[in-house]
Amino acid sequence: MEIAKSLQQIPSSYIREILAAASDKNVISLAGGLPDEKTFPIDLMKPMLESLSDMTEVFQYGATAGYGPLLEFLGDYYQLPESHIAMICTGSQQGLDLIARAYIDPNDTVVMEAPSYLGAMQVFGLVQANIVTVPQTECGPDLDALEVVFFEQSPKMFYAVPDFHNPTGVCWSLETRQRVAELCIKYNVALIEDAPYRELRFSGDAIPLTSDFCPDHSIVLRSFSKIASPGLRMGAVTGKRAYLEPLIKVKQGADLHSSVPMQALLLGLLQHDNFELHIDKIRALYKTRYQKLFAELQRQLPETCELKAVDGGMFVWLSLPECDTFALAKTLLANGVAVVPSPVFYPAHDKAKAALRLNFTNATPDELEEAVKRLAKVLQEQVG
Ligand SMILES: Cc1ncc(COP(=O)(O)O)c(C=O)c1O
Repeated sequence: MEIAKSLQQIPSSYIREILAAASDKNVISLAGGLPDEKTFPIDLMKPMLESLSDMTEVFQYGATAGYGPLLEFLGDYYQLPESHIAMICTGSQQGLDLIARAYIDPNDTVVMEAPSYLGAMQVFGLVQANIVTVPQTECGPDLDALEVVFFEQSPKMFYAVPDFHNPTGVCWSLETRQRVAELCIKYNVALIEDAPYRELRFSGDAIPLTSDFCPDHSIVLRSFSKIASPGLRMGAVTGKRAYLEPLIKVKQGADLHSSVPMQALLLGLLQHDNFELHIDKIRALYKTRYQKLFAELQRQLPETCELKAVDGGMFVWLSLPECDTFALAKTLLANGVAVVPSPVFYPAHDKAKAALRLNFTNATPDELEEAVKRLAKVLQEQVG
């Protein structure tokens, strides 16, 4: 049977291939975006795991928008305005898919920063969106380029990851957030604010969501994968009722609803007295890992490589002199370190600037040190 044309044009996931190769025990992987398993709050989930056996009602079919008590809790937790609602989805990735399917017709324009989250490019590619990118600066999207695209191409939405971007780690400045919100209102573009790393800030001051400045022109995607566990597959979408109702309709066709026992488990976790302490511990752990990786990179890398400090998240972006980063990543893998080359994060691979994405959350400090040793050796030889 011939596969759909929309799927034919989606390339096979390079990351999946590299992650498969990186599972070799001789390879240190900085390639994935995996949280450290030691952070999974199993102890905090135990009371609810035990209670679930007495909660027959959560094993019945549930409401498409989500488990009522969890939705109510999230309304307060995210301080949603009266006119906004939350909806639970199977990971925030499903929220993104529902948004694309509810709102994008083939050739509708979606704007993203370049580089951008691979999973978003796949989702918008599948609905045959016209993906247009604007360059990313240290403070967020290039605002002039963004305005030109908004003015000239009348996009339907702007998809963005303002907090500790995947893959670059960039966190948008307050001014950028305010300006992007103004532009979204002015040009009537919906902002899709994807915030899975928001809680992983380990330095600097918290900044409001971009959506706080344009609440009626935005949808926010939240994830519990990084602060609880990705295997739970729990995410949430919030926004004004009129924006979310079409998503609920699509979700009904997709899977009726997300697992209710998992939603009850998540609620128990979020309500646990020690949940905030748990997030503090994750931040502290990732801060030390980041500092270790950053210090080793600064110490060992050739001067031609450029490194940007981050205030949170899971990734560091290492800019390189122009080179074939796919070939470089292959050589690095053969030398026992897995990384992701920059072109996979650009809709047009040939537009990519040479860089590597390095993850710091899933390797121990010793592994990070050894990984940088291997990385530096190859870089000295190949681009040094
Ligand atoms: C920017 C971004 N959005 C969404 C996701 C998907 O997260 P979830 O596990 O909640 O589906 C990821 C996962 O790494 C991500 O990096």
